[in-house]
Amino acid sequence: MIDRARLKELHKKEEERFLASTPKSCERFAAASEVMPGGVPMSWMAKWPGKYPLFVATAKGAHFTDVDGNEYIDLCLGDTGSMTGHSPAATVAAIKAQLERGMTAMLPTDDAVTVSGELAKRFGLPLWQFTVSATDANRHAIRYSRLITGKSKIIVIDRCYHGSVDETFATLDAAGKTVMREGNIGAPVPLDETTRVVEFNDLAGMEAALKAGDVAAILMEPAMTNVGIVMPEDGYLGAVGELAKKYGAVWIIDETHTISVGPGGMTKDLGLKPDMLTIGKAIGGGIPTGTFGMTREIAIEIAKKTSREVIDTGGIGGTLAGNALSLAAMRATLTEVLTEANFKKMIALGNRWCDGVDAAIAEFNLPWYCNRLGARGEYLFQGKAAKTGREAAAAGDFELEQYIHLRLLNDGFLLTPFHNMALMSPDTTEADVDAHTRAFREMCRELVG
Ligand SMILES: Cc1ncc(COP(=O)(O)O)c(C=O)c1O
Repeated sequence: MIDRARLKELHKKEEERFLASTPKSCERFAAASEVMPGGVPMSWMAKWPGKYPLFVATAKGAHFTDVDGNEYIDLCLGDTGSMTGHSPAATVAAIKAQLERGMTAMLPTDDAVTVSGELAKRFGLPLWQFTVSATDANRHAIRYSRLITGKSKIIVIDRCYHGSVDETFATLDAAGKTVMREGNIGAPVPLDETTRVVEFNDLAGMEAALKAGDVAAILMEPAMTNVGIVMPEDGYLGAVGELAKKYGAVWIIDETHTISVGPGGMTKDLGLKPDMLTIGKAIGGGIPTGTFGMTREIAIEIAKKTSREVIDTGGIGGTLAGNALSLAAMRATLTEVLTEANFKKMIALGNRWCDGVDAAIAEFNLPWYCNRLGARGEYLFQGKAAKTGREAAAAGDFELEQYIHLRLLNDGFLLTPFHNMALMSPDTTEADVDAHTRAFREMCRELVG
């Protein structure tokens, strides 16, 4: 459907446009390449479209400005780390106040109690622990699950992403065997030693993976968000919870991205009852943090199996985890920014963004599909919603994606670099969304020729 020669030509034009409008980012990148591999402080930042990443001068609310003075509407928002909008006023005020009162002392502060209570209200789990990232929260939840069940295996969903957690970089091969995922770096052991991979929305596959009775935990997002968006079928998630109970596995839900549907994520919206829940990114308003919640039963089992004498060397914790600064940021972000009222606004904008994308897809008869997940929207290069990670991954088109991202970047819109995701913050406006709708329509028009 897309003429590849034409796509190459269009892409070349955008490469030239990018170079012409970002000479200072280009200079910065040359200097950066002398002191950082790939010229970036973190490897993924090499994935942005264009010859180099933009260097940011300032970011505020839903917008940022690069070092060349170009202004952008940020629909990536740090891939959810800034779903609050950049530097939200309430979070900044709380951080500033805490900066003068000590940032980290490895002692609890009052904010830890407030934040835990707020998380308990939102997600229905009574007890919380804090980490430095969502990755850490998942690692800790897995380790505790192994500890209390005495079992070794973890179940994850095919094409999931839960941070840099060794056990999760597995996929299913064509024969349905668990194997290492492409690109996995430095695996300590073959992945089928630690992990069983199951397709999303496949209850029979889930039960088959649990049957041997050796599974410590099922770790999953309630809707997949890292291979495009894949929604759960009716009843699927509740049934997974039941299966976990039946086979004595801990059911861990990762709400790091799916909090886009509302203050208590899909767990609250669908009345789910996980044993543990992990989350990070947006809840710190941009300050690194992560957290995991658990039932009282789980906490009692953990307490029975841990000893104070060696609590600091057992593989759970982290010197800066639960630090005063991140808890102050979380307190303000949860109570003043990621509120019911702001979610209402963000979700309406998410729908408006998807309506705009849907309209262009229909007008130009493109075989694409736009998924909605509250404040998050994402189109896949296939004509209908995917039911599994494998189906969603099959719709991948790196060449097309790179073009679209660069084209929209040149037009002033930043999409997440991994797929075609857009996220709304409380500061995003209808005018921002409508500007994207116009640019997206024009891009589609040119693409089909
Ligand atoms: C669902 C999910 N869980 C966990 C993580 C890891 O978050 P972090 O990079 O903050 O450790 C991510 C990151 O994208 C994620 O998408």
